[in-house]
Order: sequence, then structure tokens, then C-alpha cells
Amino acid sequence: MKMNRLADIGQWILERFPLAKVWEDHMTHYYAPKNFNIWYFFGSLALLLLLNQIVTGILLTMNYKPDAHLAFDSVEYIMRDVHWGWLIRYMHSTGASAFFIVIYLHMFRGVMYGSFKQPRELVWIFGMLIFVCLMAEAFMGYLLPWGQMSYWGAQVIISLFSAIPVIGDDLSLWIRGDYVVSDATLNRFFAFHVIAVPLVLIMLVFMHLVALHEVGSNNPDGIEIKKYKDENGVPLDGIPFHPYYTVKDIFGAAVFLLFFATVIFYMPEMNGYFLEHANFIPADPMKTPDHIAPVWYFTPFYAILRAIPDKFAGVVAMAGSIVVLFLLPWLDRNPVKSIRYRSGFYKKALLLFVISFISLGYLGTQPATPTLTLFARFFTAIYFGFFLLMPLYTRWEKTKPVPTRVSPHHEIEDDLPALIEEITVLKPSASEIGDPAFRGAFYNRRPNPDGIMKVLGRFAKRIVESLD
Ligand code: HEM
Repeated sequence: MKMNRLADIGQWILERFPLAKVWEDHMTHYYAPKNFNIWYFFGSLALLLLLNQIVTGILLTMNYKPDAHLAFDSVEYIMRDVHWGWLIRYMHSTGASAFFIVIYLHMFRGVMYGSFKQPRELVWIFGMLIFVCLMAEAFMGYLLPWGQMSYWGAQVIISLFSAIPVIGDDLSLWIRGDYVVSDATLNRFFAFHVIAVPLVLIMLVFMHLVALHEVGSNNPDGIEIKKYKDENGVPLDGIPFHPYYTVKDIFGAAVFLLFFATVIFYMPEMNGYFLEHANFIPADPMKTPDHIAPVWYFTPFYAILRAIPDKFAGVVAMAGSIVVLFLLPWLDRNPVKSIRYRSGFYKKALLLFVISFISLGYLGTQPATPTLTLFARFFTAIYFGFFLLMPLYTRWEKTKPVPTRVSPHHEIEDDLPALIEEITVLKPSASEIGDPAFRGAFYNRRPNPDGIMKVLGRFAKRIVESLD
């Protein structure tokens, strides 16, 4: 009887709301390529992190005070007195860094497999808009704890706008709402950080996914599975998103959460990379810290800014380094999508780009000495060279034949169990060693330096071999 009533309510809703249809269209009857590899975890992980940031952000807001006199102390209050406040704050601060790690890997996957190319240009553009919003969100969030680095970081970045000719000074005054970063700035950044930008982000993520489901996912072979369908119109190389990829993504999320929890519980500051040391000192407008550096995820762009001797030209170069990413679908002229079938030249160019991006990231954390500035200029040239010369070298490139159907391919995850055996070693648990009754009964897995070195050596060799 009860069951019938529930079913009736369900039926009543379904006749008025297309829940079952949406579920079918986007889950059980949405066919994704069957050859997704480890790189395809990062989209769902980005969704998980977005949810984490929203939930922990709401909880933080319950005790945070957006007031220049109270902000720093309210964060300390959250850390010390609010029940589980430390955990919520560390989930949020570690979540911000994890979000950028995941997003950089997600974007790199797109570049590797040519996922930005026709017909997915809009998926990429929405993705880039998300990236810009994410940077704005992180930048404004960083001011809220009102520590030394929050204050002076904001001061430096907002003053960049004053380098723009004619309107610059007025523009930076307008952004700050004062002549220096002050309570007015903190209040408006709070409003943007907790509601305005998150709303835009959620809307953009929705559009990113709508655009993706319209054209369908790309895959590591870079071929269109919609070209080959069976008599029922189902792609021959496709599998229903649910249950296959929902289960796979839950597994990916579980593995990710192991790493995430390890950082939260054991190294939430990550040696000053996730939470900078100077930010444990309250903001002091009268005392500039010795060395101002943004958080690690901004440092590649910051290094480009500092590499250019002229302030305005530096700002243009920094903005340009993000604008070129938007243009990627039109810069790459080669119709072959996946790196698997592209030329050795392109693979080397991409490797060089990755090296320069990471090097710029490191240089951005360091004081700008003359030698380091020279290095930063060199890597900035490679960064822009990779994109701006792309229309030339991608047209001349000699690619390999692309298969028509997805190919069996040996993936890193196929070796994962053996890899874990190799990089770890079983040792008797330290706490049990002293007790003769338990001696040797309990074992812990510990890192095995020899195994790790061997794996790294093999990995480097594999990368070099794949550059042909
Ligand atoms: C909040 C941030 C983001 C979320 C939640 C998100 C979510 C997703 C999801 C769930 C997918 C499908 C699964 C996958 O392919 O991994 C996807 C695909 C994709 N995303 Fe994102 N994304 C975000 C940011 C970005 C950014 C910043 C870019 C690049 C600028 C980007 C570019 C792409 C591309 C090109 C695809 C298609 C990949 C393919 O089919 O091979 N996304 N995204």
C-alpha cells in the first residue's frame, strides 16, 4: 500500500518534470568512448572540488567576519575554537590548491588529445572562461584571511591595473574602493568571493557540460566515435556513461580523496606553498614583507609579468599568456587530434612548453635576481613561441595514420598494482617490534627509494622514446 503511494508520487512528479528523461539522455543513454584513461578522471574531480569549495565555504562564512579589524582573528577563532573549524578551513584552503592541480591536468589532457579542436571549440572556450573565473575567485579569497600576504599580494596585483594608460589609476582606485587596500576592498572581495563569482562559475560549468554532451567526449585516440554506429544508432566504440563511468569516476574520487586527506591531515601548509608563511602574520599596511610572491598556481603568470622590464608591457604579456590559450582551437592547424598520432616535432614542442611552464612557476616563487630574470625571459619566449609559431609548425607536421576505431593501448593504470609493489616495501610495523608476542605479525607499506628511482628512470626513458 505504502509502496503504491510512493510510486504514485513518483509518477505524478515524472509527468510534470523531465527527471527520468534527463537521466536517460545524459547518463544511461549517453554513450562515452570506451577507451577513457586516467586523464579522464580530472573533469569529475573538478566537479567534486567545486562542491567541496562551496560546502566548506558556506560553513566558513558562518564564523568568518569580513571586517579589516576582525577578519584575521575570526580565522584564528575558526582554527582554534569552532568545532571542526580547522578541518573545514584546511579542506577549503587545500581544496583551492587541489582545484588548480586538477584543472591544470584537465587542461593539459585537452591539449594532449586535441579536445579543443572542432567540434569542441566551445567546450574549450567555456573551460577557459571557467579558468579565468577560478583565478579571480582564488585571488579574492586569498585577501579574506587578512594576513600579510593577503594584503600585500592584493596591493601588488591591483596596482598592476594602474599601469594601463589613461584610465589605469582610476581603475585601480575603483577596484579597491579606496587609495590603498582597505576595509572597503575586503568587503567587496568578500561579496564577490562568496556569491557573485561562484554563481558565474556554476553557470559556466553547466554550459561547459551542456556543450560537451551536445558534441560528445573526445578520447585518447582523438577519433569521433559517432561516425561508426550499430543498427540502433549506438556508437560501436561507446559505452553508457552510467553505470560504467559513474563507477569508474567514484573509484577515481576515492583514490583522489586518499591524497587529499593526506595533505589536509599531515601537511596542510605544504611548506608554505598552499598557505604562505607570511600569511600567519596579521596584515600590516605599514610593513611590506621582504618577499611578496603569489600562491603557486599564479606564479607562472607572475614570472611572465616580472620578466618584462616595462610595467605596462609586463601586464600585457601576462594577460596575453592567458589570451593565447583561448585561441588554441584556431592556432593549431593540424586536423590530427591525439598526441599519439602527431609528429615527434610537436611532441618535443609540447614537452618544452611543459618544462617552461613549470620553470616559470618555480621562478615566480623566487626573488627576481638578474640571473633568474634572464631565465624567466628565456622561458617566457618558449611559452609564447609554442603558441604563436603553432600555425606554422602544425601545418608542416608529418603525422601518423589515425585508426578509424579506438585502439587497444597499454595505459599507465594497467601497470598500477605492479608499480605500487615496486615503489613500496613491506616492513614490520614499528609499534609492534618491541612486543615479542606481535613481532613480525604486522607489516606496513613504506616507500622504497630504490624502486622509486627505477620507476622514475623507466618513466623518463618512456617519455624520451615516445618523442619520435
Ligand atoms: C570547474 C572547472 C571545471 C569542471 C568542473 C569541468 C568539468 C568537466 C567534465 C566533468 C568533463 C567531462 C569529463 C572529462 O572529460 O574529464 C570535462 C571535459 C572537458 N573540459 Fe572541463 N571542467 C572544468 C574546467 C575546464 C577548463 C579550465 C578547461 C580548459 C580550458 C576545460 C576543458 C575541457 C575539455 C576540452 C573537455 C573535453 C575533453 C574531451 O572530451 O577529451 N575544462 N570538463
